[in-house]
Amino acid sequence: MTESAQTTHEVEIDHSNRSTTPQTGAFLDYISSHWADRPETIPAAWPVAPYAARRRAALGALFPGERLVIHAGAMKQRSNDTFYPFRAHSAFAHLTGWGAESEPGSILVLDPAGDAHEATLYFRERAGRDSDEFFANPEIGEFWIGARPSLAQVAGALGIRTAPIAEFAADERDRVVGHGAVEADGAGTGDDENLARAASELRLVKDGFELAEMQAAVDATARGFEDVLAALPQASAHARGERIVEGVFNQRARLDGNTVGYETIAASGPHACTLHWIRNDGPVLDGDLLLLDAGVELDSLYTADITRTVPVSGAFSAVQRRVYEAVLEAADAARAIVRPGIRFGDVHDAAMAVIERRTREWGLLPEDDGTAYHRRYMVHGTSHHLGLDVHDCAQARREMYLDGVLEPGMVFTIEPGLYFQPDDLTVPEELRGIGVRIEDDIVVTDDGCINLSAGIPRTADEVEAWIRDAQA
Ligand code: GLY
Ligand code: MN
Ligand code: MN
Repeated sequence: MTESAQTTHEVEIDHSNRSTTPQTGAFLDYISSHWADRPETIPAAWPVAPYAARRRAALGALFPGERLVIHAGAMKQRSNDTFYPFRAHSAFAHLTGWGAESEPGSILVLDPAGDAHEATLYFRERAGRDSDEFFANPEIGEFWIGARPSLAQVAGALGIRTAPIAEFAADERDRVVGHGAVEADGAGTGDDENLARAASELRLVKDGFELAEMQAAVDATARGFEDVLAALPQASAHARGERIVEGVFNQRARLDGNTVGYETIAASGPHACTLHWIRNDGPVLDGDLLLLDAGVELDSLYTADITRTVPVSGAFSAVQRRVYEAVLEAADAARAIVRPGIRFGDVHDAAMAVIERRTREWGLLPEDDGTAYHRRYMVHGTSHHLGLDVHDCAQARREMYLDGVLEPGMVFTIEPGLYFQPDDLTVPEELRGIGVRIEDDIVVTDDGCINLSAGIPRTADEVEAWIRDAQA
């Protein structure tokens, strides 16, 4: 790989129509001079550093004698010369501890050294004022994107040896993972399946640093939910009230210095029956339910994933409450069985048993012939692992994940729902257009579990009181 713009973003950009900076020798001399010295402060190692070192050691132990190359990835093009905000590959963030501040195009290399591996982090550091890049390069120039850390500063913060990206040389024997991975000739490669799987499975059990971050992400998410409840009258008064809901939640994330871990789902009325409704352009009407599925992501890149379904008016109707309480019962039944030693799939089965029982009691299902007819009203799974990715550990083997056995330190959601589509002729009219999901973030402990989101009201009565308090 060569040191080119493509190390930081995925496409070549032609700036020729927009480049107006003078390029004469006199100008270059002038703009490169008369800058005050900047003392370089080297930060103390971040708290994540020892955790990330242990993660690297654990991964390396699975690949003795092999060189492992983990790319942060490149910036993704949105259109022409605009890009999505950079977000490092989760394996890279996990193994370096470098989150929101990480640099596009960075590469972590674990080189075999004796029985273990030695880590080097390659990245393209800031352009010095002896180059023209600091003022003329919109991708990496300090005048354009702000100050970037030096190699020594990153080495100090993360406790990893650092080196200029130009010193990185790919080798065909490397095991490579991370989007933006490219071969020496510039051609794209897929991830090494074994390394991707191992890096994903390494995250199935969270360490102490991760658990603290996830609790903080949940707490920050709770603040966003409260702001939304306070803004419900404002949302009801707007033709696109769902936009108000999304905007208020995301604003709380930004005001607290955070971002969101996935597109906020602000689904009111029948939109709640669309599982991943992110268009958020509908009204928020009195008498309807609002399903808000949202999660704050911290600088460390850990995210929460919480859903609450609330009555816009402040009070559930009788039929809304009946559906709500069935979903809550499913969630509670699932959480009640969580402890080390059970199968991940058992959690789903426990929730589904309640969903089936209730929908059968309500007369919605055909005669029982062993078919899971109730899944018409909840087509998604009850749980997924959660962490750096909202759907974390996605490359883990089935026997480690879906068919895997729970261990202390695993974090996953419990999120049953009932969704009665507005045009579903199998349900009475009073149910049509009602969608309810309740989603909590659960950590497995030595003898059971903790609900990280237990502090966010869950029962129908608590939810009504929560709305009253938020609007008081
Ligand atoms: N927010 C997406 C999900 O709950 O899985
Ligand atoms: Mn979820
Ligand atoms: Mn969710």
